[in-house]
Amino acid sequence: MTDIIRRPARILVVDDNPDIVMVMRELLISRGYEVVTVTSAEQATAEIDRNTPDLILSDVIMPGKSGFELCRELKENSETRLIPLVLITGLTNREDRIQGIECGADDFLNKPIFAEELFARVKSLLKLKEFTDELETADSVLCTLGLSVESRDPYTEGHCERLAQNAAAMGVYLGLDAESIVALRRGGFLHDLGKIAVPDEILKKGADLTPEEWEIMKLHPVTGENICKPLKSLRPVLPIIRSHHEHADGSGYPDGLRGSEIPLLARILQIVDIYDAIRTARPYKPALSHDKAIFSMKQGARLGLWDTELVEEFFSMLRDRKVA
Ligand SMILES: [Fe+2]
Repeated sequence: MTDIIRRPARILVVDDNPDIVMVMRELLISRGYEVVTVTSAEQATAEIDRNTPDLILSDVIMPGKSGFELCRELKENSETRLIPLVLITGLTNREDRIQGIECGADDFLNKPIFAEELFARVKSLLKLKEFTDELETADSVLCTLGLSVESRDPYTEGHCERLAQNAAAMGVYLGLDAESIVALRRGGFLHDLGKIAVPDEILKKGADLTPEEWEIMKLHPVTGENICKPLKSLRPVLPIIRSHHEHADGSGYPDGLRGSEIPLLARILQIVDIYDAIRTARPYKPALSHDKAIFSMKQGARLGLWDTELVEEFFSMLRDRKVA
C-alpha cells in the first residue's frame, strides 16, 4: 500500500556475484533507493516474506534455485505477483528472455550493467508499482465498504469474513485456479455491497418486506456490480456480485438464469452464504444445527434452488475439515 509519508523505494538485488551486488548497491543508493542484497533465490524468498520490496532485480543463473524459478513462484503467488521483477540476463541470450517472459518477468537488464539503463528501468517499474498499489488501495476501500454494509445489520457480524474464508476454501477444495480463489475471497466481502443503496428501514426489517420494499432490495446485485465495474482488478468478482441470488430453476434475480447459466463462482458463494445464514440466529429465526442445515440445503437443492452437486461438495469439504 502507498505510504502516507513517502519512504524511499526498497529494492531487492538477488545475485551470487559479489562484484555485481556491490556495483548495483552503490549505483542504486546514489539515487536515494533503499537496497537489500541477497546471494540466492532461497534468501530472496525469506527476505520478501520478512519485508516486501517495491522492486526485485534478480540474476538468472545462481547456485540452488534459478532466477526463472524464483520469478515463477513469485508471479504465481497472489501476495507477491504485483512486485515488479527484472531479470538480469546476458546481452545476446534470446532464449533466456523467452523463458523469462514465460515466467512472468516484468523487464530485463543486460549484462554488463550500464548505470543509465538500470536507472531508467528501475524508475519506470517503480512508477508502475505505484499505480498498482493505488489500485489495490481502491480494492481494499471497497472491501471495507462491504464490511460497513454488514455492520448496519448487527445480526450478521462476522458473516463476510466467514464467507470469504469458506468460499475461498471451497475454491481450493474444488481445485479452481488462483484467480478464482481470490475472486471468491473478495466476493465474500463484496457480494452485498449494493445494499449500500438500500434504506436502513428495509435492510433492518430482514423479513416480511412489502412488494415495493422487495423490489428495492432486489436491486442490490446490480448496484454492487456497477460500483465495482470500473476496477479492472475486480472483474473476476463481478459475476459473483451480480448472480449470487439466482436460483437453479430460474426463479432467482436479477436475470432469472438457470442451472449452469449461473456463473460457477456465484453458485459457490451462494451455497456458503446460505449455510452461514442457516447456522446464524436472526431476529426472525433461531440458528439451526449443522445436521438441520444439511437437511434444509439438500431439500432446497431438490426443490431447484441450489446446485445439488455443489451442495454435496460443500458438505464433504466440511466433513474433511472436521468443522461440522
Ligand atoms: Fe445479497
